Amino acid sequence: MHGVNLGTLLRTCDAVGACLAVPRYPWIPEALERGNTLRRPTCVHYTGNQVNWLAAQRARGSLVVGAELADEAVRLGDLPPARGRSVLVLGHERTGIPPEALELLDVAVEIPMVGHGASLNVAVAGSLLLYRLAGLL
Ligand SMILES: C[S@@+](CC[C@H](N)C(=O)[O-])C[C@H]1O[C@@H](n2cnc3c(N)ncnc32)[C@H](O)[C@@H]1O
Repeated sequence: MHGVNLGTLLRTCDAVGACLAVPRYPWIPEALERGNTLRRPTCVHYTGNQVNWLAAQRARGSLVVGAELADEAVRLGDLPPARGRSVLVLGHERTGIPPEALELLDVAVEIPMVGHGASLNVAVAGSLLLYRLAGLL
């Protein structure tokens, strides 16, 4: 919804050695530029249908981790670093992760919050989780 978040996430992906996977929407390339101060090639995958892409990643053995505020979610501090190929799923800024993608998660992870907000900015949540999965925090 707020394109600048994609550039921010792309920078974090670069920092932790991850790739960013995005759908091929017309506004995506420009959004990736915003907030991304890296002036060299970055690793971006274009997914096509996102749910099909996610199912294919799972079928080839990737651990699918969802950033999601849910009763059954693991707390961020209890999430071990990834031991193999992993995919982190982030939700839409207004509607979260859609049900058909939630069904494909191996684990949901919640970042605890004690303030008044209902959720974190998606780029902040994604960055915290990426650092944790990469074992750099
Ligand atoms: C602004 S939030 C979306 C809130 C949305 N109203 C919902 O119901 O999920 C955007 C995305 O950031 C991630 N996120 C935000 N705060 C989070 C938290 N505390 N723990 C885990 N993920 C979080 C989730 O992937 C979420 O779908």
